Amino acid sequence: MNTIKFGFIGAGQISHSSAASINSHPRATLVAAQDTNAARLKELEAKFGVANTYATAEELFADNNLDAVYIATPNKFHVPLALQALEAGKHVILEKPFAMNYPEALQAAETARRLGKVLTLGMNQRFEKAPQTVRSLIEAGTLGEIYHTKAHWLRRAGIPKLGTWFGNRELSGGGCLYDIGVHFLDLSLYLMDNFDPVSVSGATYTKFGHLGRGEGGWGKSEASEIVFDVDDFATGFIRMANGATLSLDVSWACHAEEDDRADVHLYGTEAGAHAMKGRIFRQDPETGEYLVVQNPKAEIRYPHCDRFHNFINHLVEGEELCVSLDQALTVQKILDAMAESAASGREVRLDS
Ligand SMILES: NC(=O)c1ccc[n+]([C@@H]2O[C@H](COP(=O)([O-])OP(=O)(O)OC[C@H]3O[C@@H](n4cnc5c(N)ncnc54)[C@H](O)[C@@H]3O)[C@@H](O)[C@H]2O)c1
Repeated sequence: MNTIKFGFIGAGQISHSSAASINSHPRATLVAAQDTNAARLKELEAKFGVANTYATAEELFADNNLDAVYIATPNKFHVPLALQALEAGKHVILEKPFAMNYPEALQAAETARRLGKVLTLGMNQRFEKAPQTVRSLIEAGTLGEIYHTKAHWLRRAGIPKLGTWFGNRELSGGGCLYDIGVHFLDLSLYLMDNFDPVSVSGATYTKFGHLGRGEGGWGKSEASEIVFDVDDFATGFIRMANGATLSLDVSWACHAEEDDRADVHLYGTEAGAHAMKGRIFRQDPETGEYLVVQNPKAEIRYPHCDRFHNFINHLVEGEELCVSLDQALTVQKILDAMAESAASGREVRLDS
């Protein structure tokens, strides 16, 4: 394939930075788009000079000029649209979270495998330079055995605009857990290089959004009626087959010191790390002195630091795809287990 021609389904807020990313690659262009909202479609078309806009997803999938489709709609439509795109012979990069639930995600993964098409998830946090550097150091053994990871993304007032689909369970599948929990769960497992969970405990809370509190800046609400029936705080504890553990705290809204705080703290036998800050903590073996290494040096696997460039490079020159389907399925399985555990008040076993 010489140049990858992209079609977009969903021309909302995130699609603009995605379009810029794709168009910045010398071997890819955004050439077609579709959205159920004509005004938003027009905005994307005008800003990026999209050659063809379509009234329906079916028409876009029937465009033989397209090699790949990017899906950035409310979560409910991710898998149904991905299935259609794959069946139409397109490669697909899907926004997070993968699906509304694990069986749906599995169906998409199996369809992609059966048809020999590439399907991946755009987990952009993995491509940030600092966590990539930490991942290279982990691969080189700098941290030793990682036995615990503590991840958090805590927003003080960061609920996407009230009245958008984000707060509506039927369209989103869940609140902050599925929206931003997915990022730091995925990043933690990727850094630990451990996608083998055996049990999951979770709790979710709705303490702000339903009262009209905790709204942030993301999203554009056109709704006259506000539905908010999802979590705005979630916590979880995951045990892995090798005995390692992961704890995860996420919030769209909570009383906290800072507006927005996010990191993955890794605890290893030889060193610790704060992945988003790019810091390593270790003891000098000779002097016993405690060292904090800021911006450690390491060669990184994806120097472009871009999820779309990884997908495009994979298609045109076989660069290793960072987010595998098996990994994406495991992340979905854990999210579902956290939600199930939150509802039942019991630990969920994944190994039985
Ligand atoms: N990777 C990230 O960091 C990141 C950040 C924000 C959002 N997202 C994800 O991107 C997706 C879109 O989020 P957003 O913030 O752009 O939302 P948005 O509401 O701004 O955009 C969604 C768009 O989809 C359109 N749409 C709705 N149903 C459709 C359908 N059936 N077919 C075609 N178009 C349809 C809407 O009209 C809207 O323009 C979500 O899955 C979200 O979780 C990812």
